[in-house]
Amino acid sequence: MGEISREAAIAALAWQQELGADEAIGAEPVDRFALAEAPKAAPAQPGAAPVSARIAEDPVEVATAAAEAAGSLEDLREAMGRFEHCELRHGARSLVFADGQPRARVMIIGEAPGRDEDMQGKPFVGRAGALLDRMLAAIGMGRDAPDAEKAVYITNVLPWRPPQNRDPKPDEIAMLMPFLRAHVALADPEIILAMGNISCQALLGKRGITRLRGGWTECLGRPCLPMFHPAYLLRNPGAKREAWADLLSLSARLDGAG
Ligand code: URA
Repeated sequence: MGEISREAAIAALAWQQELGADEAIGAEPVDRFALAEAPKAAPAQPGAAPVSARIAEDPVEVATAAAEAAGSLEDLREAMGRFEHCELRHGARSLVFADGQPRARVMIIGEAPGRDEDMQGKPFVGRAGALLDRMLAAIGMGRDAPDAEKAVYITNVLPWRPPQNRDPKPDEIAMLMPFLRAHVALADPEIILAMGNISCQALLGKRGITRLRGGWTECLGRPCLPMFHPAYLLRNPGAKREAWADLLSLSARLDGAG
């Protein structure tokens, strides 16, 4: 590994501080790059653990078994809390599971928690979340709507904040998808809103939100509407016009007219 820049070192320190690290754990720094590499695993010997035992440790298989065993949303949250295979959990403060009304007609699936969501343990509570709430309110809906018909349920593809809000890696998405599939099955929404590229990648296997948005499609056996992510709308206010068209399309569909 090459030298790390001053800016990168400061950013890494700030990240650790944000996670709550407030003291160094050793009196002397340890140059871990200078430590010998851990010895590589020996090739499988006759009599080694059967292939099935090694497959059982495949994160996707472990996640699938855990997710399929969950009989309720609470079980699912607990199963995710016990899932040790995703490195992201170790850098995150909270498991951000969901907010809003389970069994609402509309389930919104965002990308991943950011800093505010990680701190509060709820999805979409930062600036993007405030915009999302305003967007929903514009069509009479909301996560706290007392009328069940107007309520939404909100989650993310990833329950843990990626370091420095980087994009999730394909293997992270793959190992967390079984949980998302179970989440959708248990919440049982009529319609899914896929917010942003990561969500479209995970749910539809496609990116290119500018092309995908506004086009009704299907994911996990339900009608699905890809939309611009509110964080994108904050950076590109001109795209709110298309977002408004998509909200009207959602509203019409819910009223049985779309
Ligand atoms: N962006 C997301 O996609 N999800 C959140 O929870 C917050 C910001």
